[in-house]
Amino acid sequence: MNKLIRRYICQECGTQYPRWSGRCDSCNSWNTITEEIQRTSRTNFATTNLTTRANSLVPEILSAPLETSQRTATTMQELDRVLGGGLVNGSVVLLGGDPGIGKSTLLLQVASKLSAQLKCFYITGEEALDQIRLRGQRLRVESSEVFLLAATNVFDIIETLKNQKTPTLLVIDSIQTIYNDALEAAPGTVSQVRSSAHELIRFAKESNTILILVGHVTKEGTIAGPRVLEHMVDTVLYFEGERTNQFRILRSVKNRFGPTSEIGVFQMTEIGISEVTNPSDLFLGERSHDAIGSCVFVGIEGSRPLLTEIQALIAPSPFGTPRRSVIGLDSNRLAMILAVLEAHCQISLADKDIFLNVVGGLKISEPAADLAVAGALLSSLFNIPAPPDCIIFGEIGLSAEIRTVNYSDIRLKEAFKLGFKQAIISPAKPPITTSLLEINMDIEQLSGLHMLVEIFRSSYNSAHPSS
Ligand code: TYD
Ligand code: MG
Repeated sequence: MNKLIRRYICQECGTQYPRWSGRCDSCNSWNTITEEIQRTSRTNFATTNLTTRANSLVPEILSAPLETSQRTATTMQELDRVLGGGLVNGSVVLLGGDPGIGKSTLLLQVASKLSAQLKCFYITGEEALDQIRLRGQRLRVESSEVFLLAATNVFDIIETLKNQKTPTLLVIDSIQTIYNDALEAAPGTVSQVRSSAHELIRFAKESNTILILVGHVTKEGTIAGPRVLEHMVDTVLYFEGERTNQFRILRSVKNRFGPTSEIGVFQMTEIGISEVTNPSDLFLGERSHDAIGSCVFVGIEGSRPLLTEIQALIAPSPFGTPRRSVIGLDSNRLAMILAVLEAHCQISLADKDIFLNVVGGLKISEPAADLAVAGALLSSLFNIPAPPDCIIFGEIGLSAEIRTVNYSDIRLKEAFKLGFKQAIISPAKPPITTSLLEINMDIEQLSGLHMLVEIFRSSYNSAHPSS
């Protein structure tokens, strides 16, 4: 017999409560608990005789050969890189991102590329089929064999796909619009998202279908719906970028079939999303060579080096509490660099507004960017451009020492390839030998932050000989 039960579930983290309250004790968010009505069957594990339910299972040996072919390359190299070499058959990918960032565009392009090898289904719960056709025309993929379906009932979708020969690709745009009619809760609620995802994932695993779920993100930037969604899938990708900027970064935050540190760089164009095979060139594209407050940093994203411009602006503050505005970097790192400059280099910026920006919408989390941030700050402070054609990297310690960073050789090689002639870097172990690296660069290894201050101070003094 079916019974209706009333539950109060936090839409952020999925925790259930017997009664409503304003704040979730589990994730501390406010006004996220909503009532959901669920229909349950009276029969449950407790009333079933366990001995009659048990089946004997056959364990398999680890060393047995693989039964299925492993991966399908998407032919978009940047996407394959993030996925760890292509889409694994029978795997589930969750793609999150802000509205309008290009998730539907990317997936329609992927489906059309793969339609030559796989039977591809694009299920939309948000748009009309004609909207997708129009997008297809814009992307110039309208002649590809992608099957479209406007559906939101999870069982209808599974029933439709059951009779297909595998392997297939199934794109669900988006998981928040799909519902399970056995539940009373409204589409988009925790119970619906969780149960629809569960049904789709089970189907994908049983039929060896590649399943890609689009997930909306909340204001805080995490995928809307329960956190459990991230645990249920094999891979979680985020599509990031500023909507006003054409660059898009695809980042993997979880991947059961590859590394999570790789990023893919894309560009939104008039005719869809295109890959950026040499991102450094693009991020440095609009750089002016003698700009004040600008330094070029060589970061490592996953396995590849990436050159980006870091900009700083120091201005007198009209307020008692000066502003610290940081885009693309950790503001705590800036606070630390400012404290080290003040304590060890006698440079006080406590009464100045500071604006820091990574050009191109990239987010840098490496401490190796410290020295480049300090360089950009000093350049703005002394009103002197950084040395010409120079890259900077190194980690700053609390006692103003410059700490060794990984992959110095890879960073230097990439900078040389892009035409840079000078490098201000942390001490490398073993010492850098330019001939071994086959580069011809003037490399200065700094052991302390005061040495960087000295570089800017002496070029200021030579530009202003009278002062
Ligand atoms: P869309 O894929 O609908 O985003 P999402 O599914 O993540 O919400 O992308 C919508 C935006 O992309 C829209 O603002 C227009 C822009 N766009 C282009 O610039 N070029 C294109 O070829 C397409 C299809 C969209
Ligand atoms: Mg969309």
